Amino acid sequence: MHPEEIKYYLLGGNDEELFREADKIRKRYIGKKVYLRAIIEFSNICKNNCMYCGIRREAKIKRYAMNGREIVRCAQYAEDLGYGTVVLQSGENNIYDKKIIDIIKEIKETTKLAVVLSIGEKNFKLYREFKVAGADRYLLKHETSNPNLFYKLTGRKLEKRFECLKILMNLGYEVGSGNIVGLPWQSIDDLVKDIQIFAEWDFDMLGIGPFIPCSGTPLENFPPGDAKLTLRVIALSRILTKNAHIPATTALRTVLGENKIIFRCGANVVMGNVTPEKYRRLYRIYPGKICIFQDPENWLNEIKDLIRESGLKPSGEKGESLKKRKKNKESKVKMAE
Ligand code: 5AD
Repeated sequence: MHPEEIKYYLLGGNDEELFREADKIRKRYIGKKVYLRAIIEFSNICKNNCMYCGIRREAKIKRYAMNGREIVRCAQYAEDLGYGTVVLQSGENNIYDKKIIDIIKEIKETTKLAVVLSIGEKNFKLYREFKVAGADRYLLKHETSNPNLFYKLTGRKLEKRFECLKILMNLGYEVGSGNIVGLPWQSIDDLVKDIQIFAEWDFDMLGIGPFIPCSGTPLENFPPGDAKLTLRVIALSRILTKNAHIPATTALRTVLGENKIIFRCGANVVMGNVTPEKYRRLYRIYPGKICIFQDPENWLNEIKDLIRESGLKPSGEKGESLKKRKKNKESKVKMAE
């Protein structure tokens, strides 16, 4: 798709056509299944200071770090609930660089779960150790493709992030990137670029959510990202990437309220929070986060109903990448060793 055409749809040129086409592509390349993933937010300790994020280093919040036993138990609970995949997410810190290896191993030994890591920028050696321990997938959003904006918001180099994504791909992980829509100072052209990068890199997964201002952060007084615009980014990403796994992100469901429509605009994944409640309330990346107080089992039943009401099918399967190049995962790690 020509950049001007992407822009036309992003600006609301023809929503009806856009969403219809995205739904059609989702149906053709993925079918009716909506994959359920469990997420464990195992620590809010973060050494980064991203301006948008509620758990940034300078945020005055109570910090926690779940221990290995708690994390493994939580993963086993996710499997008992019927999930096929567990996402282990935390603020970026070095506390778990070694500990996480045994945690991954134990989850892989005691469950059939696919294990996804979302713990930030690490070096090649660590990424390889996590992979050898059994991690299957890695999420590392590029947040914005505008290098100046990325630096302004995170104090970090965008280039480094893409280097990490490259390493992860070479190690044979299924890799997810993604962006935040409606960040302060972000332009429509920045979003066009994000979508082009999604297509060029051919990521296995894409997390696309609106910016939500968080109190206590430097961006607390900026307006939130537009839900409709976020839906357009999702729909365009679906059309251009065909079969990437795209979740209806918690951030999007938080600003949209009405859920049904998301699954008909291209999204095919949803994440359920299984973090113990006492910790979950402290993992406040942004305010108003839905399902903070809901019991995981009730939440799961509700979301399954919603998926069925949308004419789709909830699935607890692993839901592996649909990208073809993933055939030789094991040999890739060997080669890299
Ligand atoms: N609004 C929306 N998304 C946010 N994230 C962090 N802070 C915010 C915010 N204020 C997203 C980032 C990160 C993911 C875990 O949460 O994209 O990758």
